Amino acid sequence: MEESIPSVFVPPIGGVEGQQLARRFGSVPGLLQPVEGYTLYCWAKEGPGTGIVVELGSARGYSTCWLAAANQAARRGKVFACDSFHYDENARVVPHEHVGVPLFQETIRRMGLNDWVEMRVGDSSEIGRSWSHPQPIRLLFIDADHSYEGTYLDFTAWFPHVEAGGVVAFHDIDTNPGCSQLYKCLLYFNKEIKEVASASSLRLVRKPFQDVTLFLPSSVEEAIGCYRQALERHPSDIEALTLLGTIYFEQQRLDEAERCYRSAMAVSSVSDDLYDKLAAVLGKQGKVAEAIDCYGHIANLSPQQNVNLAGFYFSQGQHAQAEACYMRVLTTAMSSPVVWSRLGFVVGLQGRIDEALACFKRAVVLQPATFSAPLDETVVYLNHLKNKFQIKVEVIDSILARPPVSS
Ligand SMILES: C[S@@+](CC[C@H](N)C(=O)[O-])C[C@H]1O[C@@H](n2cnc3c(N)ncnc32)[C@H](O)[C@@H]1O
Repeated sequence: MEESIPSVFVPPIGGVEGQQLARRFGSVPGLLQPVEGYTLYCWAKEGPGTGIVVELGSARGYSTCWLAAANQAARRGKVFACDSFHYDENARVVPHEHVGVPLFQETIRRMGLNDWVEMRVGDSSEIGRSWSHPQPIRLLFIDADHSYEGTYLDFTAWFPHVEAGGVVAFHDIDTNPGCSQLYKCLLYFNKEIKEVASASSLRLVRKPFQDVTLFLPSSVEEAIGCYRQALERHPSDIEALTLLGTIYFEQQRLDEAERCYRSAMAVSSVSDDLYDKLAAVLGKQGKVAEAIDCYGHIANLSPQQNVNLAGFYFSQGQHAQAEACYMRVLTTAMSSPVVWSRLGFVVGLQGRIDEALACFKRAVVLQPATFSAPLDETVVYLNHLKNKFQIKVEVIDSILARPPVSS
């Protein structure tokens, strides 16, 4: 029987529970943002279904911890963590040796989650093809091989084991082209599969209750062919034009990407996103003035939309113009640590070191203690300036010393 889409309430990460968990796992090396970990946690703890939780791509166990802690809290069984564990302590990929196994085990033991995790070592899609477990999967998290083809193999091997109404979570959507293209193909060609939640680069979909035969191209080239066929039938399908344009862009087929985006823009009122995409193509083609015009069109709509124009000016070495754009962004986003950090960088590159350091200080103070990504960016920028302008290490250390966290 059809069930309505569940609404799993994910409280803001700034809440007590999210902060406590983020602190608990703060020492575990991982590639997820805490807000993504917490979203996985809430869906594992309260999401639909009665089966097990399976994770593809566990690395040092950061996402595993969030999932296992949810299962522990709700007494909902073990997390099956699948990885080839082909890397060493310095995150170097080491072929054919499972050297990462002890590192993963150490994390899980240290976090007190031994009873809630079961490890599976090997290729994730091969494990999926020979998978037999009495219970179906209620939550599948895919974060292993991020190429289109790798994600395809994982998804097609494991999806049959997901229970009807179960959830599949994908990581790195819109940040990694391969898995993003597969994810978008899945939703474009299978309208019965719907996104039910997202947090940063995490996306969650549900398996339909009715039996469906999925249509999913097995490679990027096949996906291109399928979009083209769709466009032969409906030449003004904006979604297909945009998705195809994005694949061409990633393949550096810039003229074809430009044609797709311009055709989409000719169809109807144009979204900001399309202007952004076309501007990126024009920039790569070296059509600097046209790209600035295009970014400028969006930037005129609201101060916040100046971020990409700033980034483009920066890429062209036009630091003063980039600074002016970041200043416009700050008129409505005074508390954005990322913008302060970027402003600090472009100001520093113009030799105004004291002003730059003040911007970085502001960025660090505004940075929630549990989010590391923008802070990492600040550290990288500071190190750049340090080498260029011989800023003293103690000055940098004093900037990076975070204010105490209230519990
Ligand atoms: C991005 S990392 C996963 C990050 C992890 N979820 C976390 O929270 O930090 C990707 C992991 O997938 C694993 N991996 C990549 N391709 C794989 C494959 N075909 N089979 C099994 N594991 C794979 C790698 O060893 C790596 O540990």
